[in-house]
Amino acid sequence: MKILVTAGPTREHLDPVRFLSNRSTGRMGFAAAAAAAERGHEVTLVTGPVALDTPAGVRRVDVVNAREMLEATRRGLAGNEALVMAAAVADWRPKVCEAVKVKKSAMLPVIEIEPNPDILKTLLPLKGERVFVGFAAETGDPAAEARRKLYEKGLDLIVANDVSLPDAGFAVETNRVTLFGRDAEPVTLPLLSKLEVGRALIAWIEGKAKR
Ligand code: PMT
Repeated sequence: MKILVTAGPTREHLDPVRFLSNRSTGRMGFAAAAAAAERGHEVTLVTGPVALDTPAGVRRVDVVNAREMLEATRRGLAGNEALVMAAAVADWRPKVCEAVKVKKSAMLPVIEIEPNPDILKTLLPLKGERVFVGFAAETGDPAAEARRKLYEKGLDLIVANDVSLPDAGFAVETNRVTLFGRDAEPVTLPLLSKLEVGRALIAWIEGKAKR
């Protein structure tokens, strides 16, 4: 199969040196890309700024902000049969990005922000027969929010991770996830490495593509 994976945070700049972002390191998305390449799939990885090596056999596209990630993912979608959105896209961006560094003395105490596009929702009309997988970063009981996102974003599967746990979610090597599909009971996996989570997710996509 041809699989498009997104990873990492996006950075929403206020000026050339300052930005709004989040704690994503890209590990989960890179692990999903590595797991797909390991299975012989043709993988394109659209990533925000991270400090990770590209997995063997994966084509990498680097982006900085959410609008660039949307465009790179939109371009990649045409040639791919599955989309895995592991990226932690910043929901908001500063209204203004200055071309030069803002002097500390000129900085306003309030940053005006505006919403970024939701990449999955924007690309939903282009989904067709493609398999769409999202992630849900939740704290506490993820079931209700994960199900809401599964339907609202038109996904086939959502991988919920509890990002309040010390061994799951952002910036760790392991993850604890529950897979929420549309017409099946949720499946909770044990504590796994992110590569193992990636393998489980790719196996699910392969199974879905066969059905
Ligand atoms: O990168 P790591 O350090 O390894 O951390 C991994 C992770 C915690 C970032 C990853 O496992 C994860 O949960 N990624 C999704 C984070 C997130 O943005 O979740 P969300 O619940 O806010 O969004 C739900 C889905 O919508 C996600 O698939 C997200 O990519 C997508 N989304 C979100 C916002 C937006 N503007 N556009 C989107 O498409």
